[in-house]
Amino acid sequence: WPDQARLISEINALKKERDAVILAHNYMTPEIFHGVGDYVGDSLGLAKEAARSSAKVIVQAGVHFMAETSKILSPDKTVLIPDLKAGCSLAEAITGADVRLIKQRYPGIPVVTYVNTTADVKAETDICCTSANAVQVVEWAAKEWGVDKVILIPDEFLARNVAAQTTVGIIAWKGRCIVHERFRAADIEEMRQAYPGAEILAHPECPEDVLAAADFAGSTAAMTDYITAKKPRQVVLITECSMAANIKGDVPEVDFIGPCNLCPYMKRITLENIRDCLRDMRFEVTVPEEMIAPAALAVQRMIDLPP
Ligand code: 13P
Ligand code: SF4
Repeated sequence: WPDQARLISEINALKKERDAVILAHNYMTPEIFHGVGDYVGDSLGLAKEAARSSAKVIVQAGVHFMAETSKILSPDKTVLIPDLKAGCSLAEAITGADVRLIKQRYPGIPVVTYVNTTADVKAETDICCTSANAVQVVEWAAKEWGVDKVILIPDEFLARNVAAQTTVGIIAWKGRCIVHERFRAADIEEMRQAYPGAEILAHPECPEDVLAAADFAGSTAAMTDYITAKKPRQVVLITECSMAANIKGDVPEVDFIGPCNLCPYMKRITLENIRDCLRDMRFEVTVPEEMIAPAALAVQRMIDLPP
């Protein structure tokens, strides 16, 4: 604890010195989320904040694709990530070259890309989506392009879960989140029997039978909003472990019950490497010049959709 308090005060002093803000994802550990995060939220919320912020430096307390998204939206700012190995299995599942091949195979079909992708994939994309707005984006793209199907990449489960909620046809890819693919419908059944009164919330990156067995599915921010509004007595959060710990402070009356899985990529970010990152101004995340405009268009189209 004394070490954590010291690191938090060092980080807060360095933020002022560097004119920096820390954008912290909902999967950060509580000492980062509550201790040093200037803006906390889901992928969509952090992307919007990156575009709005007037700070010179953005520290992404999250994973690499999020830092790239910040750079795409704010190319004049310095974007730092505390550990370059904070990746994402979904972002690693597809490349820009793969997307070019898919587009050749399905000419005229719009490409909707989950934000959990690299900048070269975003640069090949018509519009991005997050788990919070995927259905809305898919329907918008089908209407705008005047077609009855869209390409939705790279998350296989997000694609299937969106397909279950729309009449638009979905062409998918085989990417998976290593955290959410591990949950099983049988886990949910077990929890239901053990805690019959509990509300079960799951992230849309989970397999579809897991979502079918849950009471609510949504992005990390949508799950947070649901819990803070409804304050169920017991909640099972089918997502990354830190979520429950981060929400608990705002809703002490809610009991959070397992299971949860850790994201090894998110957990690479620590108070210590955030301090080092601000002190040494490392590791800077850059995006090749030619990718910035097409990738920004895809992200901005998503941000500009009505809420
Ligand atoms: P959210 O957009 O729901 O925050 O999800 C990001 C993520 O990485 C989930 O695994
Ligand atoms: Fe990627 Fe899954 Fe980790 Fe999110 S939780 S960063 S989707 S591996």
